[in-house]
This record gives sequence, C-alpha cells and structure tokens, in this order.
Amino acid sequence: MSVAVVVGMQWGDEGKGKIIDLFSEEADVIARYAGGHNAGHTIVFDGNQHILHLIPSGIFHSGKLCVIGNGVVIDPAALIHEMDLLKKANIDLDDRLVISDRANIILPYHGTFDKGRENSNHFEKIGTTGRGIGPSYADKIARAGIRACDYRNEKYLKKKFESNYQEKNTIFKDLYGKELPSCESMFDELMDYQETILKYIGDTHVLLRDEIEQKKNVLCEGAQGTMLDVDHGTYPFVTSSNSTSGGASTGLGIPPTQIDRVVGVIKAYTTRVGEGPFPTELHDGDGERLRDEGREFGSTTGRPRRCGWFDAVVARYSICLNGIDAIAITKLDVLDRFNTLRVCTGYKYKGKVYEEMPADLDILENGEPIYTQFEGWNQSTVKVEKFDQLPDNAKQYIDGLQNILGVGFLMISTGPERNQTIRQGTLF
Ligand code: GDP
Ligand code: IMO
Ligand code: MG
Repeated sequence: MSVAVVVGMQWGDEGKGKIIDLFSEEADVIARYAGGHNAGHTIVFDGNQHILHLIPSGIFHSGKLCVIGNGVVIDPAALIHEMDLLKKANIDLDDRLVISDRANIILPYHGTFDKGRENSNHFEKIGTTGRGIGPSYADKIARAGIRACDYRNEKYLKKKFESNYQEKNTIFKDLYGKELPSCESMFDELMDYQETILKYIGDTHVLLRDEIEQKKNVLCEGAQGTMLDVDHGTYPFVTSSNSTSGGASTGLGIPPTQIDRVVGVIKAYTTRVGEGPFPTELHDGDGERLRDEGREFGSTTGRPRRCGWFDAVVARYSICLNGIDAIAITKLDVLDRFNTLRVCTGYKYKGKVYEEMPADLDILENGEPIYTQFEGWNQSTVKVEKFDQLPDNAKQYIDGLQNILGVGFLMISTGPERNQTIRQGTLF
C-alpha cells in the first residue's frame, strides 16, 4: 500500500482532522486535495486544541512532508496566518510544507462576492462560510483564475489581475450599486504575500510522483464531506469542489490507478452547517443534546451545527461513490447518555421507499426517514481503547452499523484526544 485517501462521508466535520493526525503516524506525506479555508480540522493532543484550515493535518508529526495540492484554493492571508500560528507553537514548516504552483489563489474580491451573494435577495442562500470559495472556484473553471505560479511573473500577474478586476467591478456595481475597493489597493494586498508564497511553492505533482515511486506512504487528505461535493452532494447546497475521493486524483495529480485504498470518516450521528436538506435532522431535545454533548459548533465560523440521527442512506451512498473499504467512526462517546438511538435506512416519499440517495431535493426535504432503533448504553465510553471494553449496547450499535453498511470500522473514536481511540487496524 502506498496511496490512501481519507474522506469525509457526511456533510463535513466528521472528525477528519483527528483521524488524519492519527493516521499520519504511518504516512510519509500528507497531501490536502480540495477546498480552502472553509475547512476547519481540529486536532487535540496534550490537552491543547489546534484548528487547521489549509495546512494538512499531518503537520504536528515532525519530519512528515505536507502538501497543499493544485485542487485547493488558497487565500494567502489565511495561509500565512495559519503558518504564523504554527511557527509560534514551534512547528517547523521549512522544507516540510510545499504548496502546488498550480493552485488557484482566492483574490480579495472573491470574499466580497461570496458575502454579497449570500446577503442579496437575488440568490438562494447557501449558508457559505463567506470565505470566497465559490467565486474562486467559479473563476478557476471560467479560466479567469490566478494561480500560485503567477507570482513568479509580476508583469503577467498585474495584467491578469487588472483585466479581471475591471470585469468584477462592473458586475459588482451593477448588482450591488457600489464599487469594489480600488484595483491598486487590491493588487497591493495580493503582492504583500508574494515573498511567502514563492518560498513555499513547487511542482507538487512531480514531488508526489517521486515519493510514490520510492514506495513512500502518501495520505491524501479530504476536506468537507461527500454530501457537500459539487457533483454528488445536495446541490446547490454544497461547496464548490469535488470533496469525494475522485478529487484526490485531480486535486493532487495522482493517477486513479495509483490509489490503493479509501478510508471514510463518519460521525456516530449526523451534523450539517449551513442551509440545505437534512432528512434525519432533530428539532427536539435529542438534537439539542447532540449539539451540547458533541460541542457541535463550527470550527471555522463558530455557527451551531444542525444535528440528527445517523443516516445509513448517506453512509451507503458515500461508501459506493468513494470506494470506501474501511471506516473510522467518531464521537461514539457523544451518544453515551441516550436511552434510544435511531438509524435511518430509507426515506418514504409519496408512498415510495428510497434506499438510494435521490438527486431530487424534494424527496430529502419532505421524505420521512425510516428508522431502525438501538438501545442506548447510559455509560461513559470516553477513553475506551479496546472494543471489548465497550458497554454491550455500544458494541451492538457499532456491530449494527457495520452490518447495515457492509464495511468494517478501522477506528472507533471515543473522545477528541489522540489516545481516546479504539484502533482496529492500520491505514497502510
Ligand atoms: P473535521 O472538519 O472533519 O476535521 O472535523 P472538525 O474538527 O470540524 O469537528 C470535529 C469535532 O469533534 C472537533 O471539535 C474534534 O475535536 C471533535 N472530535 C473528534 N473526534 C471526537 C470524538 O470521538 N469524540 C468527541 N467528543 N469529540 C471528537
Ligand atoms: P470541513 O473540512 C462543514 C459548508 C458550508 C456551506 C457549504 C458551502 O471542516 O469538514 P462554502 O464556504 O464552501 O462555499 O460553503 O459548505 N462547508 C462545510 N461544512 N465542514 C466543512 O469543512 C465545510 N466546508 C464548507 O457551511 O453549507
Ligand atoms: Mg471541520
């Protein structure tokens, strides 16, 4: 085994940060393949919490190479801020962090457009993170983006920025009746980051190819989750990139034939931030308890996360789409004080039962979840490190899920800290 993808199976925030940090022990390279600083990956060790937005979750393991791939959109200010925080925590980044010179840059006006859209009555509200992710990917696809490598050619960069700016400013004035900040000020801001970006960029496709040739273990780090994938998620309530495992190939330049395995990360229940359908969402005391016990507030924006029961339709769809061969399940401990647990196995809509994920959002919004019940265990599982030591009903819940999904659990997480984990196998 040398290339593994770790992917979120729900609507993001599954605990990828914790799991990838643990798997990084076995990896030589950790490479982020999609998204931007809309992501928030939390890693907790020695009582300290670190939240990463762009830098791969392997960064706390000294000596491991961390790559930000071409599929990621980079806000240079956010990246530099994150780098500064890590340096303050005595994490060495030099010769360990490489950013793809093909990655697109989030420009100062992308955030303005993102927030403008969200706050206007013209468009459906998505509940984005307001970080300019959608407008930046839109420009990438429209071939109007600026890439990290453009920092090498200031004259070209200026020309491209100025023509883009003219177009954006015209649209902005038309839509919102006001002008963007001046072209000069926005360009100057972009140039403030030139030195740092140039220091860290490289041809990451070649670097990864060489590492793979040398039989090194490469962990491809997903951001967001399967249901937020722009093609396969609950469109339009999605992010603007391919968060599914296929995105690892395009977002890093690793051919599909070289990916050896895909591991999914899933919560023992479901959460979602932002707008969009969520069939198993709870609007009662159980939902509130999940939010309180699970501390379900966004790592990036601090927004309360919507909470609900485990959705096996989502999980099976995710297994199939991503080619998942093993799962890391997180936050089992959050269910410790429930009398009854529910798992959705299908949606009933206009008399028909759907067991496959429908494209039609009306089915997800108005369908009635069909539930299987499990008994709770009313006992703490925090810090349990062996499956046998789990309460019987917790074992039954875990076994029940594995049966419904047909895929085994490689890790069962029972708390945010590294050692609060049941490990049942290795990644590579
Ligand atoms: P990511 O975006 O998938 O990396 O997930 P986030 O970091 O946004 O959100 C997951 C949250 O759950 C973080 O606050 C983690 O510290 C926390 N967490 C991860 N695993 C567990 C677990 O097993 N139990 C509990 N209680 N918290 C966990
Ligand atoms: P991690 O990697 C949870 C959601 C936003 C919004 C939608 C579009 O931490 O799991 P965007 O700013 O991307 O245009 O917003 O996607 N979203 C996430 N939700 N976890 C994330 O990342 C997310 N990244 C984006 O809340 O609903
Ligand atoms: Mg997150």
